[in-house]
Amino acid sequence: MADTILKLENVSVYFEKKGWKTIRTEAVNQVSFQIKEGETVGLVGESGCGKTTLSKAILGFVRHGEGDIQLKTPNPQMIFQDPFSSLNPSKKIGWILEEPLRLSGKYTKEDRKNKVREMLQKIGLEQKYAHRYPRELSGGQRQRVSIGIALLSGSKFIIADEPVSALDVTVQAQILKLLKEVQKEYNMTILFISHDLKVVYQICDRVMVMKNGRIIEDKKTEELFQNPEHPYTKLLLNMDTL
Ligand SMILES: Nc1ncnc2c1ncn2[C@@H]1O[C@H](COP(=O)(O)OP(=O)(O)OP(=O)(O)O)[C@@H](O)[C@H]1O
Ligand SMILES: [Mg+2]
Repeated sequence: MADTILKLENVSVYFEKKGWKTIRTEAVNQVSFQIKEGETVGLVGESGCGKTTLSKAILGFVRHGEGDIQLKTPNPQMIFQDPFSSLNPSKKIGWILEEPLRLSGKYTKEDRKNKVREMLQKIGLEQKYAHRYPRELSGGQRQRVSIGIALLSGSKFIIADEPVSALDVTVQAQILKLLKEVQKEYNMTILFISHDLKVVYQICDRVMVMKNGRIIEDKKTEELFQNPEHPYTKLLLNMDTL
């Protein structure tokens, strides 16, 4: 039985806007779930339902008001919809990929160069891209680089927040394929956020449906698609005919 690497118990996140009257948004509301090592779990739901806030809470980027989050893996990594904003624009791709290795302090310069070379190959980029800047890459190529960074950080857990939404369908398929390969090879655990059920169907073992800050359904992918229980899940499935 695989180990549980992430466990949330009754997690809530509130945002407060102070004015003459304090307005409180409950972005995440009493969320509980567990993710086991090696699982790819989808998190779906309409815009504003709390997906990104939940992932930020997991990574400690926002404070959660209540509840308990246990993340039992080092170096969790986030992959964003537009990796451009997370890649240092003034550094070349080779430098960017080498950075987690430098920070670890575990490798010689030669080891680092070799590892970057191997990683470029693994993520499907020709060696020449090591000498290019992020702005000189396409969206799909930049997403390959984000995956490479996560791997070189030694991360076993990735939160991918709409990682293919900005890409056209062919490139989407390529990036999903790469993510799948990487997941298998490294027994990676992935929390995959998307509003696109077609994408979720392709990559996830399990799907959690979120609405107004709550997880309203949590099932194996096949089961969710064949047997949606919640009316909202049915609605999502109908809106997005496979
Ligand atoms: N920093 C913040 N301050 C105040 N409110 C916020 C903040 N971040 C998010 N919110 C609010 O919390 C709710 C959830 O937002 P969140 O970004 O988590 O949604 P999402 O599901 O990721 O949406 P999308 O699919 O559009 O990315 C929204 O009502 C949003 O306006
Ligand atoms: Mg979001």
